[in-house]
Amino acid sequence: MALSRLNRIIAVVVLIFAIIYGWKCLFEARRPPCYTIDVKYFGSNIPTSSDNEDFSIKPFKIPFERSQVDDMVNRVSKTRFYEPQILIDNNLVNKSTYGFNRQTIEMVRDYLINTYDWKKTVQELNTFDHYKTNIAGLDIHFVRVTHSSRINENKEAILFLHGWPSSFLEYLDVARLLNSSSNTNYDLIIPSLPGYGYSDAPLRPGMNPTQIARIMQNLMQRLGHSSYVVCGGDWGAAIGTSMAQLYPGHVRGLLITMSAVATTWKHYLQLALGHYVNPSILLDYDEQEFLVRRFNAFDFAKILWREGGYFHLQATKPDTIGYALNDSPIGLAAYILEKWSRWSNNEIDIDQSINSGLDRFTLDQLLSNVVLYWTTGTITSSMRLYFEYASQISSGHDDKILKGPLAASVPVAIVNYRNEILYAPRTIVRSKYPNIKLWLCHTTGGHFASMEKPREYARDIEKFLLQL
Ligand SMILES: *[C@@H]1O[C@H](CO)[C@@H](O)[C@H](O)[C@H]1NC(C)=O
Ligand SMILES: *[C@@H]1O[C@H](CO)[C@@H](O)[C@H](O)[C@H]1NC(C)=O
Repeated sequence: MALSRLNRIIAVVVLIFAIIYGWKCLFEARRPPCYTIDVKYFGSNIPTSSDNEDFSIKPFKIPFERSQVDDMVNRVSKTRFYEPQILIDNNLVNKSTYGFNRQTIEMVRDYLINTYDWKKTVQELNTFDHYKTNIAGLDIHFVRVTHSSRINENKEAILFLHGWPSSFLEYLDVARLLNSSSNTNYDLIIPSLPGYGYSDAPLRPGMNPTQIARIMQNLMQRLGHSSYVVCGGDWGAAIGTSMAQLYPGHVRGLLITMSAVATTWKHYLQLALGHYVNPSILLDYDEQEFLVRRFNAFDFAKILWREGGYFHLQATKPDTIGYALNDSPIGLAAYILEKWSRWSNNEIDIDQSINSGLDRFTLDQLLSNVVLYWTTGTITSSMRLYFEYASQISSGHDDKILKGPLAASVPVAIVNYRNEILYAPRTIVRSKYPNIKLWLCHTTGGHFASMEKPREYARDIEKFLLQL
């Protein structure tokens, strides 16, 4: 039987797509990735020559100020909660339907007033070696964990990059575990991103993830590491990716827990085929159970709509919400903890678990991160990173870096956790990261995996290192 006219048209269209697709793949594979970046300065006084730049590395201790804690507790105890609460059938709605759960935030308030001990946290943090060094006009803070007894041996240098709303605290457990591992000699570097924690905030515009990549490469160079591995999630994954693109000769390996790939028409075609025809067009067998629920475009749009508001706000008007958050510790805690809850659970878990899904962490872990933002007064500068990223995209500047692939010489590990906020299938991720050495799908864990699952995280790093 001859093909009907419609079938013939469909066949021709598919053929044309296949040819364009094939041609594009060939073309992309041949394009040599070579990226450059403008040298920018973010401090107050632009130096006239490199002579008056300060390259020294100064030891640093985390400061503790009693008056800061007193002021915070005072503000917390005076929190003005919204009344009346919503009732359904004369019962309080305890879910997170309208935003972060009220019972949980009251529990957080009581804990901050009666139990939480920032002084003890600072003392514990100061058992680590902290330093500051000036790069691009800003003092950059970092923790360094090294086997002091083996300082001259060959070391495996690893840079850990945190994201938002997180901090260098996120990697301390992993660093402790790796440091006590007997097989390898590590030099672990855990910085605070510019505008986060104890790193200076930029005084000039333009501190986007690509510029942070340049600062971090400078940091590693200054510490004597011309070759190193980068680990990161969230912004840390974006910054690490830019580092691998800009400095493929230095980045010996990149391990990320969140892979955001600029989606092209080719990817939409793949996603549509994967969704409407057969998942195996898009997903390898091991990914299917794990990822398939993400590829209902409608569900994904719903997630973006429900969970993406903060992104829009911070990418357009970070300072406005910043006034409120920098003035109210409970407001700040609710804003930050909602993210830790949402991004570590799936939606069903949150309303069913006690403490809105925060029980994946200890309250001390969670509140140390919040109080770090509070005492350093950095929530506004941290949120501006979204603004700078959005400016970078809309200006088209560094477009090549944002959309282009890594050099095939850089080995990459992609570690997917079940409750991570973004997923991309391996076939799509490969277009950006051509040399994936390790692809893991964990059935538990979320966005802050290094803190939620430090053992698993450290084990994956060691697995990756064996393949480099
Ligand atoms: C809401 O929480 C309060 C206090 O924890 C509790 O007494 C009440 O039963 C809860 N209501 C619902 C609908 O879960
Ligand atoms: C790292 O290991 C060295 C050598 O065992 C030890 O002296 C140091 O205290 C450890 N650092 C941390 C932060 O655990």
